[in-house]
Amino acid sequence: MRKANSINIHDKIFTPYISREEISRTVSSIAAKINSDYFGREPLFLIVLKGAVFFAADLLREIALDCEMRMIEAKSYGMGMVSNGDVKITGLEENLGGKDIIVIEDIVDTGHTLEALTKKLLLQNPKSLECACFLSKTSQREAAINVKYIGLETEPAFVIGYGLDYAEKGRHLPEIYIHRQEA
Ligand code: PRP
Repeated sequence: MRKANSINIHDKIFTPYISREEISRTVSSIAAKINSDYFGREPLFLIVLKGAVFFAADLLREIALDCEMRMIEAKSYGMGMVSNGDVKITGLEENLGGKDIIVIEDIVDTGHTLEALTKKLLLQNPKSLECACFLSKTSQREAAINVKYIGLETEPAFVIGYGLDYAEKGRHLPEIYIHRQEA
């Protein structure tokens, strides 16, 4: 039976999971930590498109530091629900050596995307390199990566909204929705 407030995206039903209020509280908490940790420094935020676009827009407007932002694109899921592990990164032509880089991600799942990006960035000798992600599926991790700023832990189910998509649909939703397999 279809639950109240559920939405259909392609062939799946998604139900409300994380509200605007919780998103807002979570963003503010991450921003406060970064503002404190990087006090007196000038970090460069590297926004990983497309998924991180809304989180980055909210987070950066709460950053009280003299900072810069760049955008790159990383793609690993294709049109399905499972990461295919084949990560394509574009837009990283500029040398970021000597910078305090903070990668902004909407979600870290298996960690393959962040691992591939980290390897590329470390070749450029940044001064420091950390990641801020809104959601983490830490239980699904396959790559040995470290994420310093995690907004919320999430269960191993597919989520959409606030930048997250299912086959390119659902990114625009202001709240986060979840698809749980039928029991
Ligand atoms: C999503 C997300 C991360 C990555 C995380 O990107 O934005 O970059 O998957 O998954 P992983 O930890 O298993 O590698 P996606 O490839 O779906 O591209 P998108 O941001 O354009 O949606």
